[in-house]
Amino acid sequence: MIVISCSHGKHLGRQVAKKLGARHSELFVNKFPDDELLVRFNIDVKNQSVALVQSFYGNVSDCIIETILAASTAKELGAKKVMLVAPYFPYLRQDKRFHPGESVSQDIIAGLFDRYFDLICIVDPHLHRKSSLNQVFRIKSAKLSANSLIADYIKKKIKNPIIIGPDSESYKWARSVADSIGAESRILEKKRYSSYHVEVQLNKKIDLKNKNAVIVDDIVSTGHTIIEAAKLLRKLGAKNISCVCVHGIFAKGALEKLRKNKINVISTNTIPNPVAGIDVSGVIIKSLI
Ligand code: R5P
Repeated sequence: MIVISCSHGKHLGRQVAKKLGARHSELFVNKFPDDELLVRFNIDVKNQSVALVQSFYGNVSDCIIETILAASTAKELGAKKVMLVAPYFPYLRQDKRFHPGESVSQDIIAGLFDRYFDLICIVDPHLHRKSSLNQVFRIKSAKLSANSLIADYIKKKIKNPIIIGPDSESYKWARSVADSIGAESRILEKKRYSSYHVEVQLNKKIDLKNKNAVIVDDIVSTGHTIIEAAKLLRKLGAKNISCVCVHGIFAKGALEKLRKNKINVISTNTIPNPVAGIDVSGVIIKSLI
């Protein structure tokens, strides 16, 4: 197998290849003055199983086009199998038409990857109304999870934790982490009015005395979900609040906002960022062995 790091996969691709004992190469990506992309393989992919590593953050549209160009080219150059390792895969949250006339982006984007890949491996995909990746993609898929790594981190670093899921969807992360370390957990209720306007509430009693509140979620994007959850927890008496997430997107200065709100934040390294302290490469290689 050859592991090939795409432009947004370099932070994990080399490590993954090393752990697998596989060859590694970086995809050459050039952006022309008119914003078009060109990709080129620096290694012969003929008759090889190729694992492209790409995380979809920052300029997500460019990441998608680059990955599709690479997969199609690999096939055309004779690769026998083309796999995508996506530490973070985008567009999964728009899994229904929330307002008339909207695109159901999840289906459309998944359909695109179905055309070019044989296998897709995603770390903690945001699955809400669908329970498995088989309902999203027609190609073979592997759903990987960083939950055990998050649980280990909390167990080692945070005393007397109480795990908080900031919305109903977060139970898959928050409750599973809480259960595996034998901690108490609570799931809050969230109403989202817009990207930057969310409200959270708690419908069950909570005793935060002598506890360190740890908000666990899959994605932190604008940070508003976490900030609102933290405000509520503070009102209820929480002193120390941490947030441990899988995918630290931290869009538009979110990390600074979280810090201003005195929330200690840590994420996995599915997306490189200044607080990416939990390494998922070990989880990824299991899907490729
Ligand atoms: C959505 O349900 C996700 O699990 C996250 O809670 C959400 O994407 C966080 O977004 P933001 O940081 O923009 O509030």
